[in-house]
Amino acid sequence: MPNTLPHWFLLGAGNMGTLAAWYLTRSGHGVTVIRHASPAPLEKTLWLPDGRQQALSLPVLDPAALPDHIDNLLVAVKTPYTRQAMAAVTDHLDAGSRVLRFQNGIGALDGLLPTGCQLIEAVTTSAVKGQHPDHTVVAENATWLGGSTTPPAWFVSLTEYWPDLHWEDDIRPRQWHKLVANAVINPLTALHDVPNGQISDNPILREQATQLCEEADQVLQQLDPAWPGHSLDNVLTVARATAGNTSSMRADRQRGAQTEIDAINGWLVKQADRLGLAVPANRKMVSALTLL
Ligand code: PAF
Repeated sequence: MPNTLPHWFLLGAGNMGTLAAWYLTRSGHGVTVIRHASPAPLEKTLWLPDGRQQALSLPVLDPAALPDHIDNLLVAVKTPYTRQAMAAVTDHLDAGSRVLRFQNGIGALDGLLPTGCQLIEAVTTSAVKGQHPDHTVVAENATWLGGSTTPPAWFVSLTEYWPDLHWEDDIRPRQWHKLVANAVINPLTALHDVPNGQISDNPILREQATQLCEEADQVLQQLDPAWPGHSLDNVLTVARATAGNTSSMRADRQRGAQTEIDAINGWLVKQADRLGLAVPANRKMVSALTLL
């Protein structure tokens, strides 16, 4: 059986990439990091929620040494760096390749994959923080994989090692629920430099959250009339459940890194423009966080 399991090439061995690599390697999959750097393996330490410390050693390959054809690619790079990271691998992807996108937001790979290449999208509610080589799993929650395909043969065995992992034939509603939570919590906590709980507790932020949510629901309802709307309840539940946490966008801003605003509120604004809808609150978030 082990030789039938995939070998993944990984772009982005940050928090999410490391978490995915951890579960995949536990399950017997191979994971090699694509990186212009020394060929020494990446040695990581993963701190699990129960306090256990786990060592993870990931082999590294320079893009120049990639095989002509990549069977399995895991994209976990932060969304603003996707185009740049993909440039190293595009020539190695074809209709026989499978790409697993483990990123925030929507659409970061649009236009970057060859025709026929299979895309599996991941949506996770797990949270990891830290910087290479130390990654702390703050919350090990549900993760959904899916796309326009049936689950691959290895999916069931992966669920034995990846807690709370599920397959969704139609991943879109999961993506949208997460997108709205990210479109509200992330920019507001980043701009005001506050923990997630303030979205629910601070009346001014709550008012802004309400506007952002209403706009997002309007866009999503136009895209799919079956979208249930009323996203604010879900967003406030997430904000309260993660009250003390620093959102990923606040963390990016605190360390002066580019944020993922384009793939989150930027995606909503792009859809709104296409549909002729006004989304001023979301547009304001995009411009405020693009001008870092
Ligand atoms: O991006 C994040 O930080 C998380 O997805 C969330 C849910 C906003 C909680 O911090």
